Amino acid sequence: MGMNSTTCYLNGDYLPLAEARISPLDRGFLFGDGAYEVIPVYSRRPFRIGEHLARLQQTLDGIRLANPLTPAEWSARIARIVAAAPFADQSVYLQVTRGADAKRDHAFPQGVPPTVFIFTAPLTTTPDSVRASGVAAVTALDNRWLRCDLKVVALLANVLARQHAVDQGCAETILLRDGFMIEGAASNIFVVKDGTLLAPPKDHRMLPGVTYDVVLELAAQHGVPSVVREIPEEELRSADEVWMTSSTKEVLAITALDGKPVGAGVPGPLARRMHDWYQQFKDEVMRRG
Ligand code: PDD
Repeated sequence: MGMNSTTCYLNGDYLPLAEARISPLDRGFLFGDGAYEVIPVYSRRPFRIGEHLARLQQTLDGIRLANPLTPAEWSARIARIVAAAPFADQSVYLQVTRGADAKRDHAFPQGVPPTVFIFTAPLTTTPDSVRASGVAAVTALDNRWLRCDLKVVALLANVLARQHAVDQGCAETILLRDGFMIEGAASNIFVVKDGTLLAPPKDHRMLPGVTYDVVLELAAQHGVPSVVREIPEEELRSADEVWMTSSTKEVLAITALDGKPVGAGVPGPLARRMHDWYQQFKDEVMRRG
């Protein structure tokens, strides 16, 4: 069964992904004018769905687009897509755009319904061999706009940053702005120095990651000192450990940065503990339902 036959949701209908159609005048297509979320699903149970839907609301407020659905309505649609999928561990993608007008005009259209789309794919997990060695990253200057706290579909700068990594055989590009480490092209970044976990502050320069919050909660719960503050580039480069976090990558050690080893060049002790705590936490949450 190919991906294209999985059921998706589009504007009120449930249909095979391959049959879903939108207008070429959709503002998501023309302007990148829309919001999105990616929600991990373990054993058919969405993880932190409330937090993802709250962040969706923040994004929609930030771009002045009314949320077409209540959290309960989102959850019901997501549940139906998840139940219909032939795989248990999933990554649910949802997107809302400002819809398709009859003309192309930058200004908001009047009386045009939003486009609402949900689809799911198998959750691609990191192979054990990759987790054991960690991944390589490169740095680049952050040339994105100043509303990086919004999860919008206009991702060209992130796309180029991520490809910059792939072109060099690396997993991620870590973005630097004004001499500070901000985040990855599609992940948040943590630094460990002398046993303390450092995280950049959630402000307009970075996406407030759902996984980022889980990691800080787990650090507090397990007595790991953590400090949220700006991280100068030198601290990134002299870190004992560097991690990337996201809903799909979870907690993944970065063991090489711009061709130089991070710390000992292998995943550090705190990365391994945090990964274990994260798995435990997932298991507990999923058992509770
Ligand atoms: N990306 N920063 C950026 C720029 C991201 O795109 C993401 C996630 C994160 C991590 O956020 P979270 O922990 O809530 O997944 C940080 C998703 C997975 C994506 O675009 O596919």
